[in-house]
Amino acid sequence: MYQYNDFDRDFLAVRNAQFRAQVERRIDGSLTEDEFKPLRLMNGLYLQLHAYMLRVAIPYGTLNSAQMDQLAMIADKWDKGYGHFTTRQNIQYNWPKLRDVPDMLDALGEVGMHAIQTSGNTIRNVTSDHFAGAAADEIEDPRPTAELLRQWSTDHPEFQFLPRKFKIAVTGSPNDRAVTKAHDIGLRMVERDGEKGYEVIVGGGLGRTPMIGKVLREFLPKADLLPYAEAIVSVYNLLGRRDNKYKARIKITVHENGIETIRDLVEERFAQLRPLFSGVDQEMLAGIEAQFAAPDFKTGSVAPFKAAYHEDSVFRSWVDTNITKHRNDDYAIVSISIKKQGDTPGDATSDQMRVMAQIAREFAHDELRISHEQNVILPHVHRADLPAIHARLKEVGLATANIGLISDIIACPGMDYCALATARSIPVAQQIATRFDELKLEHDIGDLKIKISGCINACGHHHVAHIGILGLDRAGVENYQITLGGDHTETAAVGERAGPGFAYDEIVPAIERLIAAYLDLRVDADERFIDAYRRLGLAPFKAALYPEAKANAA
Ligand code: HEM
Ligand code: SF4
Repeated sequence: MYQYNDFDRDFLAVRNAQFRAQVERRIDGSLTEDEFKPLRLMNGLYLQLHAYMLRVAIPYGTLNSAQMDQLAMIADKWDKGYGHFTTRQNIQYNWPKLRDVPDMLDALGEVGMHAIQTSGNTIRNVTSDHFAGAAADEIEDPRPTAELLRQWSTDHPEFQFLPRKFKIAVTGSPNDRAVTKAHDIGLRMVERDGEKGYEVIVGGGLGRTPMIGKVLREFLPKADLLPYAEAIVSVYNLLGRRDNKYKARIKITVHENGIETIRDLVEERFAQLRPLFSGVDQEMLAGIEAQFAAPDFKTGSVAPFKAAYHEDSVFRSWVDTNITKHRNDDYAIVSISIKKQGDTPGDATSDQMRVMAQIAREFAHDELRISHEQNVILPHVHRADLPAIHARLKEVGLATANIGLISDIIACPGMDYCALATARSIPVAQQIATRFDELKLEHDIGDLKIKISGCINACGHHHVAHIGILGLDRAGVENYQITLGGDHTETAAVGERAGPGFAYDEIVPAIERLIAAYLDLRVDADERFIDAYRRLGLAPFKAALYPEAKANAA
């Protein structure tokens, strides 16, 4: 795992001291809120519905247990004892007091963390596959690439005032767990004639105008990464629209100019920039790669795992649902669900954070990950340790066996916290999860992605959900639109709108009708919701959602 060096530590100390002085000037009134705003946004501090909100980056989702413990300490000391893990591998604190924020940033700095470029029109936290370095299907660990991009983009003098925010995601596996096609730049590690490089995708994004990214370069050699990324961002910086905030993202630049024009411009700029990169970046990459070496995998019998698997049905169900194949057969990747039915998706209490940190320390080579699906991952667990881990998780309500199932919902904070929200998201997620838990249908329904956003900005990724729910405001009343058939993987697709929206108290029954139709229509239990949807199209699902319309038309 990447360790901060003296340069990184000094940089953060100076930056935090600067911000401390700015906060003092805001508190004593010498800065107005308007003057303070650009300064706080450079340090991840938003002003929300009820309070300030601090967004802290968890680069490529990787944490060690000391960092997780520190996040818990911060939650206890300066917030309300919990944090919210987001879809962009950040943690958000919803209740900090302005005067405490400099202390919070210093506490983060102690463990090599910060909130820089988690807001503003800059290159945001670079995200990646939460199974990186552990997944059986991986071509190469994507995190050194992500770390190199982070170092290049942090405080990059040319890219502090882009037309709009800019998001980069990297995956090292053909199975895309980083939603690369919905990012401004998506990088997918590929191998050609024995050489590793990237497929470069550009212009994806959600929000008001959802778009799936387009391939800009089929193969980019690894050594060309930074000059090529710099070429893309500088073409966008020049061409991106600054006249209209809603048309400012690179997806619109690509759409309006055409991918061919953008490609020509990027290649032209790349040819100019390439000679300026003399190889220092590759030396840095080699140093970074060394820090991401695989842990010393244990050897030993997995018999205790096998015995528990046969004897304990609760453990078995958890293993079947929450465990993913590791590249080492004696090992497993554990996804810890922080989506217990009825809880707030993505929230973890400080006690839960500390338990997860302790488990990582004792059993999992000191590593944790935050997934874009708002769960926590232990990437390297010897199978013999799984029963003990399960028992510990059970004690603190973290052993829910629902990864990938209907209650594993992504939901943005919506009207409960967000100043931009037009509807609630959290209670809708809670009600759906609770209802299907009561019906005891979750495991029968199988793999299903429901994602909920409280407004058109689409922080909950609803466009790329199998079932997407978008909360809107219709004449002062909450209204929920359903989209179907979205997909966030390597076969990414934006969902289709099913029809008119539903009132707050109609949305759960509507989802129930939809699922009942699916259970009825599927060929067998192996046909996932998304596969049934692709086979049958919208019509039968629409009929289930709007039975009155069908009756009226008859
Ligand atoms: C609480 C304060 C938040 C504010 C003010 C906020 C604001 C926004 C805005 C304005 C957009 C639209 C961007 C655009 O179209 O250019 C957006 C998109 C997005 N936000 Fe948030 N958001 C917040 C919280 C969150 C949370 C909690 C998450 C994760 C759960 C999140 C993840 C995202 C993602 C993934 C997008 C989609 C961007 C894209 O690909 O186009 N945001 N947000
Ligand atoms: S989707 Fe809208 S309501 Fe939800 S967090 Fe984003 S900006 Fe706020």
